Amino acid sequence: MNVVLETIRNRRSVRKYLPGQIKEVELQAILEAGAFAPSAHNDQSWHFTVIQKKELLDELSRKTIALMAQSPLEWVRKMAAREGYHLFYNAPTVIVVSGKDDAMSPLVDCAAAIQNMLLAAEAVGVGSCWNGLIRHLFAKKEELAPLGLPSGYTPHYAVSFGYPDPSVPLAAPARKEGTVAYIR
Ligand SMILES: Cc1cc2nc3c(=O)[nH]c(=O)nc-3n(C[C@H](O)[C@H](O)[C@H](O)COP(=O)(O)O)c2cc1C
Repeated sequence: MNVVLETIRNRRSVRKYLPGQIKEVELQAILEAGAFAPSAHNDQSWHFTVIQKKELLDELSRKTIALMAQSPLEWVRKMAAREGYHLFYNAPTVIVVSGKDDAMSPLVDCAAAIQNMLLAAEAVGVGSCWNGLIRHLFAKKEELAPLGLPSGYTPHYAVSFGYPDPSVPLAAPARKEGTVAYIR
């Protein structure tokens, strides 16, 4: 199979990581892939904050889980209550992806950049997991100072990166049927 198609097929969300940090050359390949995503109006409206400081990752995890525990959604409260749950699954690298507020489609640009980064990670043997639950914390503007974002940017998502723990088998969830219509 074509290597790009194989990479797309093989990528899975990784939720258990080995403790070692990813190599700088892998991190740079992932960031470059993000920066080469398509963007509306070619705004390239993303900003990437690479966090490799364990204390900050633990703090972001702890604060987000505390907010998740107050969620009106039962499944979110249940996740927050899970024994040993860490928002980033103890991944050694997390990239916060923020969008420029006055761009045409910052959220969509950021999503395109994230998907490129997930695929680049898979291509270089790094595991990853897109993180949306951190939006509980991102909704609290007073909690954003530790991220040191440039002004005019809003954080949308985070992505965890690290070497996958090989003891955990990764299976693709079954694909839904009936998602394609043809007019031809
Ligand atoms: C917008 C978005 C937000 C997500 N947020 C989380 C999250 O907070 N925590 C998590 O473990 N996985 C998260 N995921 C990963 C999905 O659960 C995962 O992609 C899905 O279950 C399919 O599995 P796969 O990535 O292995 O194909 C998120 C994915 C997307 C696209």
